[in-house]
Amino acid sequence: MPKEKASLYAVPKLKAFSAATLGKAVEKLLDALTAESKTIPDEATWKTFRDRWMSRNNGLLTQVNDLWLKAAPKEAKREVGQLVNELKKQVEVKVENVRASLSALASAPGEKPKKQQTHASVQPPRGAIDITLPGIHRPFGAEHPVIKTMNEIVSVFRDLGYSVQEGPEIETDYYNFEALNFPPNHPARDTQDTLFIANQESKPARDRLLLRTHTSPVQIRTMEKMRPPLRIVIPGKVHRNDAPDATHSPIFHQVEGLAVDTNITFSDLKGTLDHAMKALFGSSVKTRFYPSFFPFTEPSADVQLSCIFCGGKGYRDGNRCPNCKASGWIELLGCGMVDPNVFGFVDYDSTKVSGFAFGMGIERIAILKYGVDDIQLFYQGDVRFLEQFL
Ligand code: DAH
Repeated sequence: MPKEKASLYAVPKLKAFSAATLGKAVEKLLDALTAESKTIPDEATWKTFRDRWMSRNNGLLTQVNDLWLKAAPKEAKREVGQLVNELKKQVEVKVENVRASLSALASAPGEKPKKQQTHASVQPPRGAIDITLPGIHRPFGAEHPVIKTMNEIVSVFRDLGYSVQEGPEIETDYYNFEALNFPPNHPARDTQDTLFIANQESKPARDRLLLRTHTSPVQIRTMEKMRPPLRIVIPGKVHRNDAPDATHSPIFHQVEGLAVDTNITFSDLKGTLDHAMKALFGSSVKTRFYPSFFPFTEPSADVQLSCIFCGGKGYRDGNRCPNCKASGWIELLGCGMVDPNVFGFVDYDSTKVSGFAFGMGIERIAILKYGVDDIQLFYQGDVRFLEQFL
């Protein structure tokens, strides 16, 4: 007998029908099946392999039936029967799988294998793309609502011919206060809740560092490097020593504006801001300029917007409008005509040029535009909140 034939598996007679003996016999049979299944190079060999295992006429499964099931004593029949059924299913599946991988091998394009290839070594040909693999899903990102609002505000002014300037968040006392006409120890500084950088006492007061409390210092930095005429907007992050709550955040954002030219008047300021508010909130809103104070503008004003929730009426559905506290107006931003003292700090001749400036909180505008009820939502990174601005 040829050697390999001698090593082929044959179904043994069982000496006992205990679970342990049966288990071992099944294990040996399945090992043999697996080993044989790896040696099938083509369809013809597979047919022989299939018949050897599954032929009704004395195939190995038929032998299992005869030698294991029929030979089993009565009391073991049920258990052996279940086991043999299970075994049959496993053998059928395995034999079918071998055929399936052979036909995959036959239909795979590419070089002819140099060595004899069996189904066990089926691989897609080199460089082939497996188009059945699921793709990589990359969800779309989106602009954060604060950045989105910032871009909207900036683009309103860009359309009016303004350019964009930026400046540092860690600022000196000189730019944040002194050159903006806040003298040392002036009470107007108290309104700014400043976060100072520690251990600066050895420096002259004007060089001490702080986190900028507004974007106004970039007015000074820009006027130092550019001569009039000037029309700029300054978007950026600012810091205040405020405890966080629904309307306050120690970090927030502003857009500042500055226009300097010959004959800039308060009417220009009013017309520009009225146009900007209509562009941001819709053409039906009205603006009102209310006297105020900022050290770097004279005169100064707060701009109020007719309440977008009650249409400026002060009442909504017969009740007091909670958004404007029944006044019909919402305070939105600060502005004014550039104080001549400020021009003095940057060597602009205040007898020849005049200018206006304004500053607005971006979160405040986003809150009104989108009906957000808590400023903290902007900073918590909750996707359920952010997705609403897609
Ligand atoms: N910087 C001011 C603040 O943060 C806002 C402001 C008011 C800016 C009037 C201006 C202005 O440019 O003219 O409180």
